[in-house]
Amino acid sequence: MSARLPLGVLFSPEFGADPYAVYASLREQGPVHPIDMPPGVGGFLVLDYEHGRALLNDPRLSKDLRNAGDYYRELAEGGDIVFSPTMLTVDPPDHTRLRRLVSKAFTARRVEGLRPRVEQITRELIATMAVKDEAELIDEFALPLPIIVICELLGVPAADRADFRALSGRLITPGLSEEARRERREAAHAMRDYFRAVIADRRAAPQDDLVSALITVRDDDTLLTEDELLSTLSLLLIAGHETTVNLIGNGVLALLRHPGQLALLRARPELLPSAIEEFLRYDGPVDRAMIRIAMEDLEITGTPIPKGSVVHVSLGAADHDPAVFPEPDRLDITRGNHRHLGFGHGIHFCVGAPLARLEGRIAFGSLLSAFPRLALACPPEELRWRHNGGIVRGLESLPVRLR
Ligand code: HEM
Repeated sequence: MSARLPLGVLFSPEFGADPYAVYASLREQGPVHPIDMPPGVGGFLVLDYEHGRALLNDPRLSKDLRNAGDYYRELAEGGDIVFSPTMLTVDPPDHTRLRRLVSKAFTARRVEGLRPRVEQITRELIATMAVKDEAELIDEFALPLPIIVICELLGVPAADRADFRALSGRLITPGLSEEARRERREAAHAMRDYFRAVIADRRAAPQDDLVSALITVRDDDTLLTEDELLSTLSLLLIAGHETTVNLIGNGVLALLRHPGQLALLRARPELLPSAIEEFLRYDGPVDRAMIRIAMEDLEITGTPIPKGSVVHVSLGAADHDPAVFPEPDRLDITRGNHRHLGFGHGIHFCVGAPLARLEGRIAFGSLLSAFPRLALACPPEELRWRHNGGIVRGLESLPVRLR
């Protein structure tokens, strides 16, 4: 078994700049690494694809942090949305019921119905940028697009969008310090208060929107409770944009750093769906924090994982496993293998994947045809990554030349 890995390594600037290099060097010592965790908690990091994928769908592992001992129980029960019970953090049968109800309201038809609106928002954002020579692609395009879409989907009016963006940013503050936890807790309360009002509004005057559908959706005669509605809306809001922004940002950066691939995509736009899957694999928006709790003693390639341990499955490491993706650090939009774990795997597979793919295809397609000379406007070494590590992986900013 390899030496214990300090958790701080996964939040260092070196990790932020190139997590895949850190993973590759760790991988040389084995696929499973013990990590330093808060006192009384055992932690492991899993780097290889086959074990990672299997663990994501293994009923012997729980998503409910209340199973990981007092420290995590306190986090889960302390009103901190990152840890508190939502579809993302509970097990069957609660998960099955919540997911089924949400899926009934958040249907493929509803997503497809958003297409004209996503195209219109994209056109407007591009038109605003097009009058300039340079733009900051995260703030001016990659972030507003999914925020506007998810806010409209959840009934948040345009005037409140900026506040929501700020709240959501605070909700995913990484770390386990008292300050980080307080920040998340306060933001979670504020968001719930806001959605309480939206729900009251829709109860009084139902509309043809997702919130009204979530309020009325039934399964075997059960409805979502008020508390479940509040946490589901908060989860959808955060999950609905903190990720998609980075599909666009990380994907555009990947293309700009691989001019051959960019030229290929321009020449063969039919490769766009395959390119989106490759962006999700090559530098996906969600990385390390796929946490699972071992509900019994397990063993992975000879490493004992005692019951109650916190197992971190790294999606980024799995998707750069050379055993499954040859030359994993090479962007290849013609790669036939789309078995990446960018949207997770198993019963918690991303509910929003169809919406993310829709937004991604429209965003990349429109951006590339509007700006034939799109290029980086700063040396790549000057780019900064948000948070260095944690749940999401994305750029602070992405300055680009438009002509
Ligand atoms: C779950 C990634 C966009 C809603 C997940 C998971 C991943 C993921 C990896 C699994 C988490 C786990 O197993 O612990 C992504 C990526 C996106 C994206 C990479 C964009 C490119 C969205 C959008 C929405 C959304 C647009 C909603 C509007 C959810 C929800 C879950 C989830 C509700 C929980 C599902 C469950 O626990 O059953 N996502 N997501 N995601 N995602 Fe996404």
